[in-house]
Order: sequence, then C-alpha cells, then structure tokens
Amino acid sequence: MRQQIAAANWKMNLTFDQAENLLDEILKVPHDLQAHQKVVFAIPFPYLQFAQNKISEIRNFFTAAQNCYTQSRGAYTGETSAEMLQSIGVGYVVLGHSERREYFGESNAMLEEKVAMALTYSLTPIFCCGEPLQIRESGAQNGYVEKQLKESLFNLHEEQIQKVVIAYEPIWAIGTGKTATAAQAQEMHAHLRKVLAGKYGDIIAGEIPILYGGSVKGNNAKEIFSQPDVDGGLVGGASLIAADFTQIIDALK
Ligand code: PGA
Repeated sequence: MRQQIAAANWKMNLTFDQAENLLDEILKVPHDLQAHQKVVFAIPFPYLQFAQNKISEIRNFFTAAQNCYTQSRGAYTGETSAEMLQSIGVGYVVLGHSERREYFGESNAMLEEKVAMALTYSLTPIFCCGEPLQIRESGAQNGYVEKQLKESLFNLHEEQIQKVVIAYEPIWAIGTGKTATAAQAQEMHAHLRKVLAGKYGDIIAGEIPILYGGSVKGNNAKEIFSQPDVDGGLVGGASLIAADFTQIIDALK
C-alpha cells in the first residue's frame, strides 16, 4: 500500500526551547496511525539529534534534514553529509526545496547528485519540484515539473526510485496563503505519476508517494489529501503551530 506522509518543514525557524515545546505539544496527542501512514519532521540541523532521540521510539514518526551535500566527507566547510545524518539515525532528507533552488543556486544536476548520495546512505529523499507563477500562468507547468523529475531522478534504477518521496510544491503557493485547489494538485500529481509510469511502469509509479506542499493548513488538508494521487503534504507555516499540524496529521486518509 502506498505510503501517506505528513511532513513538517520547519525551515530556519524556532529557538531550541521553542522547538522542544512544539515537539512536545505535537507528540502528546495520540495519533492512531496505520502502518502506511508516517509523520516526518524536517528540523534545523542543530536540533536534529535532540529530536531524533525524542521520537525514535515513536512508531511511524521520523526526522528529516532539510538538505545534505553532494559529497560524503572532506574539506567542505559548513556542509553536512548524508553519511553524518545516517550516523545519528535521521531517516529522511528534503532535497531541492524551491528556496534552496532559488537562494542557493541548486540545479537539477546538483540535485541528482544529492539524491544519489542520500540513497547511498539509506536516507529517503523528499524530492521537491514545482513551478513559479509565470510558468503556471503560461500553462507550461506540466512540462516544467516533468523536466525537474527527469533531470534529477531518471538516472535512478528501479529499486532506487522506489525509495524516493516526491513533493509537488507550486512556488506561487508556498508561504502565500494561496493553495493550489485540490483539483490543481490532483491534476499535477496524476501527471507526475504518468511520467513516472512511462519510465518505471505502472506498478512502481503507483507505489511512489507524491506529497503536496504550499499553504497546507489544518482546515484544508483533508480536502487536498483526499485526492486519489495526493499522498499527504509537506507543510511549512502550519507545521509551526501544534494545533494545525496535529489536524494535518489527522487528515491523512
Ligand atoms: P508553506 O510552505 O506551507 O508555508 O506554504 C511549504 C513548504 O515550503 O514546504
């Protein structure tokens, strides 16, 4: 059964005390998750080990890094490797978020290397893709996002692609309060699944979780997640509010 994931992307927010309080607030609520439903927290590097210790015993809860480097180790001041993340038990890594593409110049080619590195160290990449507003307005979004997938993921073998989670995040919906409609999300997710099926076949494409991201809130998650090709969400702003994120976890089908 295809996995469903509620993923929190804290970005560069929260002091340590605030992070601890937020996690405690969320973890104290019992969530009756099924085996295929997961909750992932993409946490700033300084708090990852702490968060990992806190949730490692909780069934279906995992930590994620928000980035990793293209190399395993060496003279790369300021970078963090997939090997390091694996060594502290982190399970996932968000790669190719639009903020990293825009502010840190991450290209499809660089992301291809990062995805490969994550898989080498048994981290599940949450690979982000999505189009800017002018591409959406010109109606060219399908081809734009398809290219991101093809250039960063399509060198993977069948057994590797099955370990990837995709997050479709239209850039015009991130942090803007303007979500894609459930129908727009479904349309793109179905398109991406078709593109994946073209390369890897229906069975594998049918098993790859595709999350939606962009202004997911407690009060709209249920409708978006109920679309047949939407397998949960990658959530920024609302993941910083315990009540909202709790509602989002509960919106998993
Ligand atoms: P948002 O961010 O939920 O605040 O729109 C989503 C994301 O950037 O992953």
